[in-house]
Amino acid sequence: MDEQQKVWNEASTFIETYCGELNKSAEEKQARLQNVKNEINETGSYTHTKEELEHGARMAWRNSSRCIGRLFWNCLSVIDKRDVLTEEDVREALFYHIQVATNGGKIKPFITIFPPDKVKIWNQQLIKYAGYETENGVIGDPATIELTKMCEALGWRGERTPFDLLPLVFQVDDNGPVLYELPRSIVQEVHITHPEITAFQCLELKWYAVPIIADMKLEIGGIQYQTAPFNGWYMATEIGARNFADTDRYNMLEKVAAIMGLDTTQTTSLWKDRALVELNRAVLYSYKKAGVSIVDHHTAASQFKRFEEQEAEAGRELAASWTWLIPPLSPAATHIFHQYYQNKILKPNFFK
Ligand code: ARG
Repeated sequence: MDEQQKVWNEASTFIETYCGELNKSAEEKQARLQNVKNEINETGSYTHTKEELEHGARMAWRNSSRCIGRLFWNCLSVIDKRDVLTEEDVREALFYHIQVATNGGKIKPFITIFPPDKVKIWNQQLIKYAGYETENGVIGDPATIELTKMCEALGWRGERTPFDLLPLVFQVDDNGPVLYELPRSIVQEVHITHPEITAFQCLELKWYAVPIIADMKLEIGGIQYQTAPFNGWYMATEIGARNFADTDRYNMLEKVAAIMGLDTTQTTSLWKDRALVELNRAVLYSYKKAGVSIVDHHTAASQFKRFEEQEAEAGRELAASWTWLIPPLSPAATHIFHQYYQNKILKPNFFK
């Protein structure tokens, strides 16, 4: 099958579903199918309408089998940036995304869609902390050591605190990478304190408000949008049970256990488990206190239950990845753990 045929197959399937879900008339659907077909025959590709782009992006979220937050798929706001020309345009669009998504702490899900293959972002998320390998171990986030090195090779120099904001790095067309420091004024962060254990503040932990994934491509109806950064809000366990706790991330459990005065000499004291719980309470408490949207894993799981019901109601098949959906803290206390899910790739979707 040639490339053109493949695009048409994917395109027509998408247009059919899209028209069905948005109750388009048979005439409108036939007309759109015909002009998509013509456009593909003439140019090898086609251009989504704004409405197709919006609904397609929402479907991609709905089909993301690793995401527990999908109940809100239909509330995704789409920023159409298929008209960017220059590096300044891209930088401005990325800064704008950070600002509107942060929304003073009341985080709103956004996706910014760039032309199919004009922009290539190197960052995994628009906001992330640098990581440096030193003689005395890693400073910062070990997950970003590679990107941090690449930024420094391009002339950037971080301060070497555990929480240096990485610059944005991206390429437009065939140009080399450009690098832009994030203005501190648009990056909201949350200092971590604990509702009862005051010593938590001595750990000097903080995290950024908004996770904005930038390294996944969005596929809608046979068109691959290589760069389409999107965000939701955090589930606390992502920060408290993974980013701060994983041994290959900030690896804080022993330090948390120490301020809690736990016996770390025997695993049977369950010091890791107790440290994890308090670390997660601290994250939830601090985000809440700062007025930044966050969800706990029990609430997120009940919202996912409603999503499952909603999808069944709509007669759509649900694709879900159990291993990704169970929270890293108390998984068996959520219904997800006890449920069997079919995991398959539905489209539109996001891909690595
Ligand atoms: N787990 C990633 C992180 O800790 C973020 C992934 C997306 N999460 C989200 N709540 N939308 O940074």
